[in-house]
This record gives sequence, structure tokens and C-alpha cells, in this order.
Amino acid sequence: MRTIPTIDIVDALATEYADKSPSDILKLALSQQGEVAISFSGAEDVVLIDMASNLGVPFRVFSLDTGRLHPETYQFLETVRKYYNIEIEICFPETEAVQQLVQEKGLFSFFEDGHQECCGIRKVQPLRKKLATLDGWITGQRKDQSPGTRQDIPVVQADAGFSGPNKQLIKYNPLANWSSSDVWNYIRMMEIPYNRLHEKGFISIGCEPCTRPVLPNQHEREGRWWWEEATHKECGLHAGNLK
Ligand code: ADX
Ligand code: SF4
Repeated sequence: MRTIPTIDIVDALATEYADKSPSDILKLALSQQGEVAISFSGAEDVVLIDMASNLGVPFRVFSLDTGRLHPETYQFLETVRKYYNIEIEICFPETEAVQQLVQEKGLFSFFEDGHQECCGIRKVQPLRKKLATLDGWITGQRKDQSPGTRQDIPVVQADAGFSGPNKQLIKYNPLANWSSSDVWNYIRMMEIPYNRLHEKGFISIGCEPCTRPVLPNQHEREGRWWWEEATHKECGLHAGNLK
């Protein structure tokens, strides 16, 4: 087992692993010392779980339940839990914060004053709490998901946004260099379960009120927070991508 890499080692690893396969990057992540977990959104990032399960080493998975996911996504989380016989650590938002937001501004405030406040309460704060218990996290982010914000993501990076004063958190993006078609070829070839929303025209999947299917040739990100400026389409989970 390797020790927790320092920033200079992370940069060297990013260069060394830049052209390696997602499975090799995942193996690197899972061999890191300390606690490392896959951050699973309930969409096509299921390929990370499949690859981890094929590696035959123990791995952890967590998912942020914002309370606003599609029924299909909840069903998919359950399908994945059973299919791989794994535990999925579900992270909920703080009751008080959600209650206060909804009481003051209603259930759809994000359509009026932007998604940042609701995402902050329902996604970012629970993520921050989970990451405080981890040394590394593994995401399904890809460069092709968002030309405006993700085109430069490395396969491994020091997480500037969520590291504590005394702890360097490492973020692994094993699918960074894969395209959407690579992911879907894998899902079909391996015949693994997928979120049924993909059969209804959804490509990128987030919360129910803030995600919609896209038309042919529209970019997948256009189905997320479509009422907002394209340049702001990060919810805070990956805020480090915003320059
Ligand atoms: S988001 O920031 O816009 O919502 P996106 O849907 O593109 O993210 O997913 C990119 C990666 O972020 C996922 O593969 C996953 O690792 C992580 N992620 C997104 N949403 C969740 C979630 N609800 N729970 C856990 N991880 C998530
Ligand atoms: Fe709230 Fe929409 Fe963000 Fe989900 S995506 S946390 S519903 S603003």
C-alpha cells in the first residue's frame, strides 16, 4: 500500500498516469493509503463501480441524496447496490438547512435566484462532511462532459476545494480522457445495469427539477440548469474546475 501522495508527487502521478487506462488509474486510487471512496451519482459513472469490482480489491462507494433525485435514479442506486453486492453510503443534507431554505424560499427557489444556494445545502455541504472523513475520492468526471469547465481535468489532482488545513485530499478522475461513447461502449459491452432515464433522452443526470433530456446534437450539459449561463454549470462539487 502506498502512502498518501504529497502535492509534488500528485503532479508527477498525473503525468505518469495521463495516458493510462481508467482501470489502472482506479487501481492507483484504491492502493492509496487511508480512506478512499468512489463518488457515485447514479448515472453512467457506474462504470467505475464495475471496474473496481473487477479489480477484486475492497472499495467504498458514496452517493449524495439531495432529496430531489428522479425516481429512476433511486431505483438505479438500489439496482447497483444489489447487482454488485456493495454498500452505498448515502449522504443526506442537514435537515435544518433544507427546512430553512424551503420555508423561506419554497421548493423551486433555484429557478429564481440560481442553483448555487440549493446545491450548496443539498450537495456541497454533505460532500464536504463526507470528504472530511476521507483521504481520497474518485469521480466520474470527464473532459468531454463540459468543454467550458472540464477540458483540463487531470486524472489525479490535489483537491484544492475540499482539503483541510492539515490534510491533503487527493481527487482521482479515472474517466477524464474517456468520451461519452467510450463509456457507453463499455456499458453495452459489459452488459451492466444503467439508469433507465438514459432510455428517455437524458444524457447527463442530476436532480429531477434541474435536469432535462437534450435534443439531437445538443451538448449533454445543456440539459443541466438550462435556465442559467453555460459558463456557470458547476454546482460546487467540482468548483475547482471554474477558473
Ligand atoms: S455535477 O457536479 O454536475 O452534478 P456530474 O453530474 O457531471 O456532476 O457528475 C460528475 C461526477 O461528480 C460523478 O461521476 C460523480 O463522481 C460526482 N457526482 C455528481 N453527483 C453526485 C452525487 N449525487 N453523488 C455522488 N457523486 C456525485
Ligand atoms: Fe437543488 Fe437543483 Fe442543485 Fe439539486 S441540482 S441541489 S435541486 S439546485
